[in-house]
Amino acid sequence: ASTLGASAAQTGRYFGAAIAAGRLGDATYTGILTREFNSVTPENEMKWDATEPSQGRFTFTNGDRILNQGLSNGSKVRGHALLWHAQQPGWAQSLSGSALRTAAINHVTQVASHYRGKIYAWDVVNEAFADGGSGGRRDSNLQRTGNDWIEAAFRAARAADPGAKLCYNDYNTDGINAKSTGVYTMIRDFKSRGVPIDCVGFQSHLGTSIPGDYQANLQRFADLGVDVQITELDVAQGGNQATIYATVTRACLAVSRCTGITVWGIRDSDSWRTGENPLLFDNSGNRKAAYTSVLNAL
Ligand code: XIL
Repeated sequence: ASTLGASAAQTGRYFGAAIAAGRLGDATYTGILTREFNSVTPENEMKWDATEPSQGRFTFTNGDRILNQGLSNGSKVRGHALLWHAQQPGWAQSLSGSALRTAAINHVTQVASHYRGKIYAWDVVNEAFADGGSGGRRDSNLQRTGNDWIEAAFRAARAADPGAKLCYNDYNTDGINAKSTGVYTMIRDFKSRGVPIDCVGFQSHLGTSIPGDYQANLQRFADLGVDVQITELDVAQGGNQATIYATVTRACLAVSRCTGITVWGIRDSDSWRTGENPLLFDNSGNRKAAYTSVLNAL
């Protein structure tokens, strides 16, 4: 096939992009989006600060724009992200203890209910593990409400939208290391105790190299009985960009429970990694070598 989405679909997978509501009026951007991708993720529009700017008052206008863009194009929509230590509204940042726990679970319930039946997969919890060698949880206001905050969030999400796959999503978990093993241990525990979880997202914000055990890491999670997805792929533009993109693509194809890949933006000029040119299309919307590399690997 001649596009990323159609090629991924040949093996039952999707190829998606993170998109921004504010760019949907850009014809070059939307042209590439509708041509190439069959999944979308809101880059910011479904985050806590965007959807509940004051407590109990929900604003879904921009999230709905992303949703409708995806659905009208026949694409999957990944929901991102219900709970995260970052991009919280100020009112939540100033809460703690049971008040924060109650507010957080209410947030999960309200947002997942608004989008019930429409979302392919939700990142229910984002980035809850610490970097470095501890393998433990990241300190955050949410973590300080009790170690069971993650499972409480997953149970609330399942109750609110039983049709959505529920994912845990993180970065620097792309190879086998202390952080990814911490996540692995949590997923294994959730599966053994019946906590509802269906998938693990690997952000894959990569520099100029990729862990040699990238595929093996995806496979060990898949072997726990969850789907795996590459959720926020971007790769620094060094000498190896095209090769690294192909390696990620081949790794996903080699793992039967790897259901799809999402790149974190469309053109280099759309990327949050300013100056790193980490995406598949250049500033003018032309296909880069990395694009051809991915297409050939699919
Ligand atoms: C980034 C967005 O791309 C930026 O526009 C925003 O300013 C900050 O967040 N991990 C995630 C994403 O899970 O939500 C982040 O997105 C990038 C890192």
